[in-house]
Amino acid sequence: MATTAENGSRSNGKESTNGKEHDNGTESATTTTTAHTETSTKSDVGVKNDATVKEETKQKQVGRHGKLGEKTILHSIGLMEYILESSVYPREHEQLRELRLETGKHPRNLMLSPADEGRFLQVLLKLMNAKNTMEIGVYTGYSLLATALAIPDDGKIIAMDINRDCLNVGWPSIEKAGVADKIDFREGPAMDTLDVLLGEGEKYHNHFDFIFVDADKNNYINYHPKLLQLVRVGGVIAYDNTLWNGTVALTEEEMVELQLPKYVRHYQPYILELNKFLAADSRIDISLVSIGDGVTLCRRLL
Ligand SMILES: C[S@@+](CC[C@H](N)C(=O)[O-])C[C@H]1O[C@@H](n2cnc3c(N)ncnc32)[C@H](O)[C@@H]1O
Repeated sequence: MATTAENGSRSNGKESTNGKEHDNGTESATTTTTAHTETSTKSDVGVKNDATVKEETKQKQVGRHGKLGEKTILHSIGLMEYILESSVYPREHEQLRELRLETGKHPRNLMLSPADEGRFLQVLLKLMNAKNTMEIGVYTGYSLLATALAIPDDGKIIAMDINRDCLNVGWPSIEKAGVADKIDFREGPAMDTLDVLLGEGEKYHNHFDFIFVDADKNNYINYHPKLLQLVRVGGVIAYDNTLWNGTVALTEEEMVELQLPKYVRHYQPYILELNKFLAADSRIDISLVSIGDGVTLCRRLL
């Protein structure tokens, strides 16, 4: 852990070189740590007033579902925009961009996976040489198309969603990108579809290289034992939204104080339970990656 003196000197170094708040993640995080250290000292001597408490609580609510493409747990929207504009949008496939912009017109566009997460998943899939994948929660198909573009020509994705209506928004882009043949879409509740796959003898056991879970947050923990049978040893299950708008670091009272939407407060305990469960599950290796709304990678060990 960095000492106050270390924080101070790094912070000073930053100001003297560029004078900006958020030039990179490390600097931004360091600045925040310093601020928190100072506030807790004040609190100890009873100086903290209501306004300070409110401001601290706001700062803790780091997650946001803001403008399209800005779903991020980063403190700084400027930093988010820098990441998108410098390294994500220049590499975004033409049809992915088209699908993302088309989704922007859809009334439920807050569900869209952020572009930096799509990019991250594509690089991960390529690193793994993933060929057989699964996706739970398709919506208009952003992460689905990202996956389809990243796997080889003979790769396959079993994609599940409770209904196909939203996918119709993105399907023309998927067809135009020439990857529709890789997709086997299964309509209906994912739990039922998983049981169908598990019921087909050994066909899908240990079959998938990669599984992306982005639907039905209260059921992640119930999907887990089924997914562990379907993913191969060494394969990865990725659970999306595991920082849940940053609320994993908030108490119920803080969420009420911040007037967070009811659905956000409703799902927070399920995500907390999942995170605790995954951390204790010795069958997997895990990493909670702070991209988008948080994505936990679980590599099957046995
Ligand atoms: C957050 S969105 C998925 C976003 C998508 N991965 C993307 O890249 O934009 C969640 C989707 O899960 C679907 N869904 C909700 N409950 C479900 C369930 N029980 N089984 C399957 N899909 C479900 C919803 O219809 C919705 O399309």
